[in-house]
Amino acid sequence: MKISIDREKCTACGRCVEVCNINFSEGEDGKPAVPDPPGPCILCGHCLAVCPVGAITHTGLAGTGFDPPGRRPTYEELMALLESRRSRREFTEKPLSEGEIASLLAAAAQAPNGCNKRNVCYTVVTDKAVLKELSLKVGKQTGWLADKLESPVWRAALNLVWGRTLKEFEPLLPLLKPMAEETLKGHDMVLYHAPCAILIHTSKYNTCGAEDAVYCGANILLAAETLGLGTCVIGFLTEPINNDRGLRELVRVPKDHKVRTSIIVGHPAFGYSQGVRRPSPEPTRI
Ligand SMILES: Cc1cc2nc3c(=O)[nH]c(=O)nc-3n(C[C@H](O)[C@H](O)[C@H](O)COP(=O)(O)O)c2cc1C
Repeated sequence: MKISIDREKCTACGRCVEVCNINFSEGEDGKPAVPDPPGPCILCGHCLAVCPVGAITHTGLAGTGFDPPGRRPTYEELMALLESRRSRREFTEKPLSEGEIASLLAAAAQAPNGCNKRNVCYTVVTDKAVLKELSLKVGKQTGWLADKLESPVWRAALNLVWGRTLKEFEPLLPLLKPMAEETLKGHDMVLYHAPCAILIHTSKYNTCGAEDAVYCGANILLAAETLGLGTCVIGFLTEPINNDRGLRELVRVPKDHKVRTSIIVGHPAFGYSQGVRRPSPEPTRI
């Protein structure tokens, strides 16, 4: 890896030194100096992005695109998008195009990332038979759990194992049985007959993995809105895949990976005529 500065182009603005004082320092001529070989670098690309005259080259970043920013949405425009995004559970049968999938993944790749490791992985499931099997298997497991929770003995046992987690889950418990029954009857209440599920996973040893994946997923949710696609996060898919060998093998998630979030995507069957403005949170101010 080598970082160089075109001294003819450099205007000595000092921005590279401000954004990265590990690999840039003020040189004797007032222009930045870079160590050879460079010091630790996470390839964030801030040095290249901040240089107003394109004077910096970085071999580790060759092939990375740096373009002038396009017009950014205003706060009002962004809020209009955020307030009109809804979790969609009603889809047409139209499959996603390869272009649409690529656009969603490109948006995911722009998310912030712990240490810029960029090792979030995606499994895109569009095979109808696999999607159906996922729904049916999760439906069956959910039905099993709903049955067990009806027995006081099992409930006490599950309470011992899950404790507070089961309590947190309490409001959802009455939904489990109908969800399982409907799904097993062919009315898919797990993946809602969506034509695509995106599983976002990382190494289970990655301490930033959960956050990395969720930020990438959030980009997918928003990018989908701009493409006229609908999405829903499916927590009912994530943990079953992590905990069931058969399901993991079905979607070929590596053994040492954890699915951090799962998102279904499809063409919405209809639009929502109202946005929802939720009250802003009251933060703790310190
Ligand atoms: C972590 C997480 C898990 C979720 N799991 C499910 C799910 O399994 N099934 C489902 O229908 N919706 C699921 N949702 C969607 C929520 O129900 C939805 O976001 C919430 O009701 C708010 O509605 P909105 O997304 O339309 O604003 C999940 C959302 C999140 C963030």
